Order: sequence, then structure tokens, then C-alpha cells
Amino acid sequence: MAEFRLPKNSRIGKGKHFKAPSDATNVRRFRIYRWDPDTADNPRMDTYEVDLDKCGPMVLDAIIKIKNEIDPTLTFRRSCREGICGSCAMNIDGTNTLACTRGIDEVKGDVAIYPLPHLPVVKDLVPDLTHFYAQYASIKPWIRTQSATPPDRERFQSREDRAQLDGLYECILCACCSTACPSYWWNGDRYLGPAILLQAYRWIADSRDESTGERLDDLEDPFRLYRCHTIMNCTATCPKGLNPAKAIAEIKKAMLARRSL
Ligand code: SF4
Ligand code: SF4
Ligand code: FES
Repeated sequence: MAEFRLPKNSRIGKGKHFKAPSDATNVRRFRIYRWDPDTADNPRMDTYEVDLDKCGPMVLDAIIKIKNEIDPTLTFRRSCREGICGSCAMNIDGTNTLACTRGIDEVKGDVAIYPLPHLPVVKDLVPDLTHFYAQYASIKPWIRTQSATPPDRERFQSREDRAQLDGLYECILCACCSTACPSYWWNGDRYLGPAILLQAYRWIADSRDESTGERLDDLEDPFRLYRCHTIMNCTATCPKGLNPAKAIAEIKKAMLARRSL
């Protein structure tokens, strides 16, 4: 799995150290990035000792335990705790992933946790995804048709056409891939990045959609699509096992096929 040692912020201070109870026998240390916009302080790394005999098996279990029992000021996002909502995406042990599906025992030694890289931080482990969601909205992620809706049924799709969406519809928009992509780090203002491009391809590949030409026109741009240099960090880090780099290649193939018509 691709590794990213983060963040670039060179001024992370040494933080507080919260010791485990003296009777704890199975202790792991969690080193967690902290930053509070309401203070003038630099970011710091706080260390929390957690008794794993009294904690669930996932990194999210430990973070929740820390918040509930050790330090209520720790801020993070989570909802489903089963890899469906995408909200607990963060950088754990050098890899962008979901805290709820990453086992504590998959990490050797101290567990280092940072927010997703190269995004503005709202607080602690919460990144600002405003721009990411605006980019998502820009691809118009819904079926667009010109033909009249059948009066008595849905728009049907064959099993084969439906299968074209496998590996695409499962994306939970966690942003792990986009924030692992060097092209997105440097050009994220204009490059759509792997998550949004995978989503764009999900609608291009949908046999019920009737706006393929328009969707490709919207992507025919030196930045929105063509900043992908096939580095493959996106595919290596996706916690759902998807392949955004392949989806991007499929869009490029569709562009070429259209030009040769
Ligand atoms: S492709 Fe994977 S890593 Fe990227 S947003 Fe979707 S689920 Fe997350
Ligand atoms: S393959 Fe493209 S989208 Fe994926 S990490 Fe590399 S440059 Fe970014
Ligand atoms: S809490 Fe929903 S994906 Fe982790």
C-alpha cells in the first residue's frame, strides 16, 4: 500500500501525553494531530495511551474511546462505522484510509494519525471538503436524459449494461484517493482528481444516461482530466479496493474514440 509521511507542516509541536491507567497491561500509544483554529497555537501531536483490552479492534474504536474517556476535545468525523459513509477518512500510519475498517493490529508500534493530506484543516482530524464537493457537483452526478421518461416503467438496463457500473458505484467519496494524488496536491484547484473522475466515469458508463458527449466535452480540458500522470497512488490507497486510475484511463479512451469517429 502506498505510504505518505505527513503533513508538510514543518511546525508541529510536541503535545500532551495522556498516560494509561496504572493497571493497564495491553497498552498502545496513539499519536494524533491536533489543531484548534480558536487558538493561535501551532499544530501539535498529542499522545494517548489506550488499554487495548478495554477497546474495540478498529482504529476508530480507539479514537472514540479517547474522546469518550480521555480527552473530549478531540475532533473527528464518523458516522456508519462500517466503511459505508466515508466520513472517517484520515491518514493512519502513513496511509489514507478509513478509521473504522483499519484494524489496530494492522499497525506496528505507535499509531500515528493525521487528517487527510493537502486539504485545509477545520479542526484536528477534520479536513475541509468544500472544494472537493463543489468539484463533485460540477460533474452533474445524476442521470441526464433528453428522451421522454417511459410513462409506465423505469428506464431499464440490461444485466450486461448494469455490470459496467461495477467497480464504480461502490465509491463512497471518502477522498482518500484524491488526497493521495500528487497531481491533485499541486493542481487540485483545477484538476478534478481521481475520486471525482471515477464518479464522472460512473455516469459516462451508465447506459441510461444520454449526455455522454456533453460530459466528455466538460472534461476535455488540460487541467480537469489531463493532469493524471498514472502515478497510481489513488488505486493503491482506495479503502474500497476500487481503481480510479482505470476509470480515468477509460475516460481518456472514450475521448480518443470520439476523436477518431
Ligand atoms: S475511489 Fe475509493 S478512495 Fe476514492 S473516493 Fe471512492 S472510495 Fe474513496
Ligand atoms: S493515477 Fe492519476 S489520479 Fe491516480 S494518483 Fe496518479 S496522477 Fe493521481
Ligand atoms: S464511519 Fe463511515 S466509513 Fe468509517
